[in-house]
Amino acid sequence: MRNYDSIRHVKGESYFIDDLRIPEGTLYGYVYYSPIAHGKILEIDFSKALQSKGVAGVYSAKDIPGENQIGGIILDENLFADEEVHFIGHPIAVVVADTYLHAKEASKKINAIYEKLKPVLDPREAAEKNLLIIPPRKFELGNVDKSWSECDYIVEGKTDSGGQEHLYLETQGALANITENGGIKISSATQGPTNVQRMISRVLGLPMSKIEVDVQRLGGGFGGKEDQATAWACMAALAAYKLKKPVKIVLNRQDDIRITGKRHPYSSDFKIGLSKEGKILAYEATFYQNAGAVADLSPAILDRTLFHATNSYFVPNVRATALSCKTNLVPFTAFRGFGGPQGIFVFESAIYKAAQVMNIEPAEIQKANLLIEGDEFSFGQKTYQCQAEKTFSQMESDFELEKIQQEINSFNDSNKLVKKGAAVIPICFGISFTTTFLNQASALVHIYTDGSINISTAAVEMGQGVNAKLKHIAAKTLNVDEARIKIESTNTSRVSNTSPTAASKGTDLNGFAVIAACNILIERLQKVAAAELGQDDFTKITFKNEKVFDEGEPTNLTFKDLVNKAYMKRISLTAQAFHSTPDINFDTKTNKGKPFAYHVYGAGIVEVTVDCLRGTYEVDAIKVIHDFGESFHKVIDQGQAEGGIVQGIGWMTSEELSWNSDGRLITDALSTYKVPDIHAMPKEMKIEFLKDSPNDFGPLRSKAVGEPPFLYGIGVYFALMNAMRAFNPNIEVKFDSPLTPEKVLLTLYGTDVGKGL
Ligand code: MTE
Ligand code: HPA
Ligand code: MOS
Repeated sequence: MRNYDSIRHVKGESYFIDDLRIPEGTLYGYVYYSPIAHGKILEIDFSKALQSKGVAGVYSAKDIPGENQIGGIILDENLFADEEVHFIGHPIAVVVADTYLHAKEASKKINAIYEKLKPVLDPREAAEKNLLIIPPRKFELGNVDKSWSECDYIVEGKTDSGGQEHLYLETQGALANITENGGIKISSATQGPTNVQRMISRVLGLPMSKIEVDVQRLGGGFGGKEDQATAWACMAALAAYKLKKPVKIVLNRQDDIRITGKRHPYSSDFKIGLSKEGKILAYEATFYQNAGAVADLSPAILDRTLFHATNSYFVPNVRATALSCKTNLVPFTAFRGFGGPQGIFVFESAIYKAAQVMNIEPAEIQKANLLIEGDEFSFGQKTYQCQAEKTFSQMESDFELEKIQQEINSFNDSNKLVKKGAAVIPICFGISFTTTFLNQASALVHIYTDGSINISTAAVEMGQGVNAKLKHIAAKTLNVDEARIKIESTNTSRVSNTSPTAASKGTDLNGFAVIAACNILIERLQKVAAAELGQDDFTKITFKNEKVFDEGEPTNLTFKDLVNKAYMKRISLTAQAFHSTPDINFDTKTNKGKPFAYHVYGAGIVEVTVDCLRGTYEVDAIKVIHDFGESFHKVIDQGQAEGGIVQGIGWMTSEELSWNSDGRLITDALSTYKVPDIHAMPKEMKIEFLKDSPNDFGPLRSKAVGEPPFLYGIGVYFALMNAMRAFNPNIEVKFDSPLTPEKVLLTLYGTDVGKGL
């Protein structure tokens, strides 16, 4: 089994936006954006740019025929800044020319005069000034205020976690063309084709039916193209519409890093109360989410932070408050985990600090508080088929946790400057869009007379392997060879009202829709076969390995024969079907309900080595017992787990976004922003599939895999902290991720780095 795109990718034959064969006369757009973080546009003059070589047009807010509004959840986002600019990178205009370089050159000739206003960059400062995107959100269970008096230990602290650049290999882009009916056909690198369709329709003032969005595949999305692929698509569509010519916009890497959203940085306060036996009795947390300049998906991401505020633990008394704080930074957006990791980091920090105060191992507290069957989350949902304890105990025994700890202790006893550390990290992630209505998808299946099959769904392939999985599901359902099946591009004219491919729900939602569509076709084929074979009861007809069986006995009919017979009998060989996740709900007024179809569980152990002279470190091993349900594509599932883990490690260790006091991102290139490379990979990565975990709510009893494994990376932070404390038990334990080598040194030596060694 392999991801069938792999060979094409390796040979460079796959089509991304920049590989599409462009129509004759295609023009190129370059985005002109605000150079200041906050201010007023006093004057702007495009005349010199318009006269620049090769320029066909410059379009800004005043040129928009429909609405200058691309906000998804809240209508607070202009396509082009109008009178005010709110972050460095805020788009102001698009310059269109015969070549990309001409467009870029011309953009430098735009003359603008700004009145600078003071930017707010810090979420706590924004909260103080009441600059909130939405009113604070609060999840509560039990009675926190009453429980503190019952606690033997009460521990408080503060945590910070940084943002994260998606660094998808393919930068954002779109290629738009006009159609004969005065509409637009556009290829867009988006996770949400319908989002793009809806926004172009709004910006151009055209019905959605006149906008066709097509997505072949993305060179990675990771959430960064769930909402934020839309602006560039709208700009390309606007320019194409104005000029009646094809227009392509592909951001260069540095612009992409500068002007597109990233994972939300959070600053948080926690208070945790425990009994002397280590039972967690109460937890209170306040999350300050740095939302950036506009809402984007921040409110939904804020909610997921609350949904995951207690990770895989049962806490009887919880009060979690979350504030989405408006700042003058780029609008932060979806990124693998969608706010969940930010919430979980705070809880794991609270456990770590409590363990330090109680002078016990964090794993003791973790183990004593794992969710069990029927436990209630703070939002009212109860666990079902809970695998928290099973994955944890299997992790302890399979990976010999005690032995690892002993080996680390003896290594540390015999090494002065190099220290090792380990940490345990259980995970729990809710599967479904927390925005309930998004949990829907549909599929369109065509069988052609030669027996080949085309499948269109709402799913966008972005490297996660959803196409290979859908192909497998269809082949299994139809009992035919996978080679018959081609998964088509995602296209809004073939499949309407698509939810974005996100929330790890791509395979679940579209897989069920494919099964439903295939079942319609099977019934039609059964009836044709029954008539052909003189069988009165069509349900007695079955299929296996391309062959037709009657009452379990093989017949001479093959799948291909049957398809032909159906065609000759004028039976439709096309089916469309819809799926929506049953039995989920969430009331945003009471903040109670059952938002998730199910949860994914797992437990991991992380081992690291820190060079306490240099501050550098290595991840020696990550070993996890992960709940994939009944995996039907182990290669893809393992790849998703490995990729997610490494992305999680990057978030916790080397990926540090820095802005200067003007609000300018100073880590806007790969020379200053360090993503994990091959050397940062754990030396050993062991992904064990939890056994006997069939999932009633996933296709072929599988579980979603896209996001949850990211969470294991959080363990690296605490493993590093343990190694540092082995060097010096008196260091100040801080929860300020990413823990870069520089921060390791500062933690070990304070401002005396380098002295007295
Ligand atoms: N894997 C690859 N290779 N590329 C991606 O862009 N996105 C992740 C995850 N795995 C991503 C990926 C994110 S954020 C999500 S939500 C899921 O894939 C989406 O796909 P799925 O729902 O089909 O799992
Ligand atoms: N995950 C990803 N995207 C979303 C979600 C979610 O839970 N809710 C709304 N958009
Ligand atoms: Mo994933 S962050 O839900 O695209």
